[in-house]
Amino acid sequence: MSQSTAHAPTTTDPAAEVFADQASFTAAVAQVQEAEIAYRLEQPLMPDSAFDALKDRVIATKAAHPGWDDEGVSTQVASGAPVGGEVRHSSPMLSLAKATTAEEVRTFLAGLSADGQDGQEPGPLVVEVKLDGCAISAVYQDGVLVQAAQRGDGTSGDPVTEQLLRGQGVAGLPARLTTPSGAGWSGEVRGELFMSDADFEVANEMRVAAGRPAFANPRNATSGTLRNLNRTYEVPLSFAAYDISGDGIPEQENATYSERLDAAEALGFATGRQLLPEELRAPREGAEQVLGAIETIEALRPTLGFPIDGAVLKADSLATRRRLGQRTGSPRWALAYKYAPDTAVTTLREIEISVGRTGRLGFRAVLDPVSVGGTTITHVTMHNAPWITERDLRVGDEVWVYRAGDVIPRVTSANLAARPADAEAWVAPTHCPQCGEELDTTSLLWRCHTPSCSIAGALDYWASPDALDIDGIGDAVCVALAESGLATSVADLYDLTLEQWAALPLGVTKTGAARTLGELNAAKVVEGLEASKAQPLNRVITGLGIRMTGRSVGRWLASRFGSMDALRAASVEELAAINKLGTIKAQHIADGLARLSEVIDRLAAHGLTMTVPDDGADKPLAGKTYVVSGAVPGYTRTTIAERIEALGGTASSSVSAKTTALVTAESDTAKARKAAQLGIPVIDPATFAATLA
Ligand code: IVH
Repeated sequence: MSQSTAHAPTTTDPAAEVFADQASFTAAVAQVQEAEIAYRLEQPLMPDSAFDALKDRVIATKAAHPGWDDEGVSTQVASGAPVGGEVRHSSPMLSLAKATTAEEVRTFLAGLSADGQDGQEPGPLVVEVKLDGCAISAVYQDGVLVQAAQRGDGTSGDPVTEQLLRGQGVAGLPARLTTPSGAGWSGEVRGELFMSDADFEVANEMRVAAGRPAFANPRNATSGTLRNLNRTYEVPLSFAAYDISGDGIPEQENATYSERLDAAEALGFATGRQLLPEELRAPREGAEQVLGAIETIEALRPTLGFPIDGAVLKADSLATRRRLGQRTGSPRWALAYKYAPDTAVTTLREIEISVGRTGRLGFRAVLDPVSVGGTTITHVTMHNAPWITERDLRVGDEVWVYRAGDVIPRVTSANLAARPADAEAWVAPTHCPQCGEELDTTSLLWRCHTPSCSIAGALDYWASPDALDIDGIGDAVCVALAESGLATSVADLYDLTLEQWAALPLGVTKTGAARTLGELNAAKVVEGLEASKAQPLNRVITGLGIRMTGRSVGRWLASRFGSMDALRAASVEELAAINKLGTIKAQHIADGLARLSEVIDRLAAHGLTMTVPDDGADKPLAGKTYVVSGAVPGYTRTTIAERIEALGGTASSSVSAKTTALVTAESDTAKARKAAQLGIPVIDPATFAATLA
């Protein structure tokens, strides 16, 4: 479809089904008219393919029942008719007859030959992409683009000169021709203005940022962009020529379209054939070659990176074109073969949220099954939470699904005209749907950092200062490990070789070069992993990241059971009894240990500490309980607790009658006041450190 002011008036399908009764016919007429109006308001009600099919049925029904009132729809004088504009075209801008089956293509080709007079054969055919954008004509004088206009009703269209000259201009349609043949050239070039899939994403971002609803697909974005004279943002646009006339353009009887395209390219215009691989650019002979090219282009469609809705077959010989002429509105020497539509409308039933292996939240639209580009789609990945809220996509909405070239279908926008009155705005989550912890929403890609929710989270926690305290394994490295699949558990860290660490991909530099961890960092990581094997059992337990366990619980479990084996053998009741942990936490611990059983075995095999060493030494702090508040010289909050416990004491976080002493330099804290109240001695941190030493 390539009409800017209305759904495209392609040649109608003669086989369209006639409506059985007048009521259905009248309803369809109203629907066509509504769709036309909505389309002009940039809120299309249905895909162009559905519109074409509906309109074809109205036209076929009107032909079968001339007495039924079609309000002018089939003769295109109703509100939906393509409208002309201020710029009168030098010759009519034609449309194309269309086909959807190989049989129709064969019939077309047979017709070309049969129409040959005096045994003249039609000669080879060019097979081009049918770009899905907006037809325009551009007039040049002395090498300068002086006027551009849309197709309009084919006879005249709206001017778009300013729109095409602003910003960066249009790729493939220079404002001034600078090639040797282009300087001073006067003539007219016609072709398709379009947006690549990447440009479409940019255009929609710009538009949403400007507070307007997103476009359903690149075609709507192209025509909507042209119509929006007041837009405050620039949008990348491209052009490909399919017709040219003027100075030096071959016209003689034996000239070909291919030669005219050569001339267009020499002038500096982009052409449709340049968008295809070299081997597909040459004209084709015979039905098999033509059908082969149609199929090859269809197979390439997902990787082209720009929207096409079909292939166009055209006689290459200008003599053949002249001889065959045209029927109303479309030439006899060309045919558009239409592929499956790339845009569809369906209902958004749910927005599913999942946590990926990097801890990143994934958002997926659950849709009523709908066929797009020949595939039935029920689930579609959505970019991120802000993207959904900015577009105001609501559960229950009718939404546009566009299958971009990259094969990944996308929900692009909601059909606001069809929004149910009770549709509630979607509320983005603030907490992880899996663990309930608050989400990290500091970047567009929201994440949950809970170790048990993702691989990256688990690795990050394992290496953190409170757990195994391994240098060089930060968040970015953990995400890279999870993304590359190099690590699926903390035990995998110890399997990786120095070379694997060094080659770990860490994205790209500003200049686009691939970044890796590198040998120096890799050596540091491997050294850190080796050193982690000497870390005490409580840190290994903590590092497993079992839900509802942390530093303290790690220490309690290590000192109570003395070994990983004893801990794994403990019953839920035994676990629950430790420091009043309670059954819920105890159950989490038992479940976590069972789930991580294989990982723990592998960690043990790698030489991680699995027992609390009995050094046989006296335990001078046995029976004593210390509360440490604030820094103690030479210790972190974890190592001070570990040291107290290694000497037989207990490290507690709250002051009570059982507290032996409070270690703090502060006198005006709640803990200090409570200690004073209970008559509990306060020890200066430096003195305490000296005592421990
Ligand atoms: S030729 C005389 N070639 O399709 C034929 N059209 O339905 C004029 N289109 O309005 C058109 N790619 O906007 C031609 N390679 C191509 C095309 C193409 C897209 C559009 C064009 C035209 C519509 C015809």
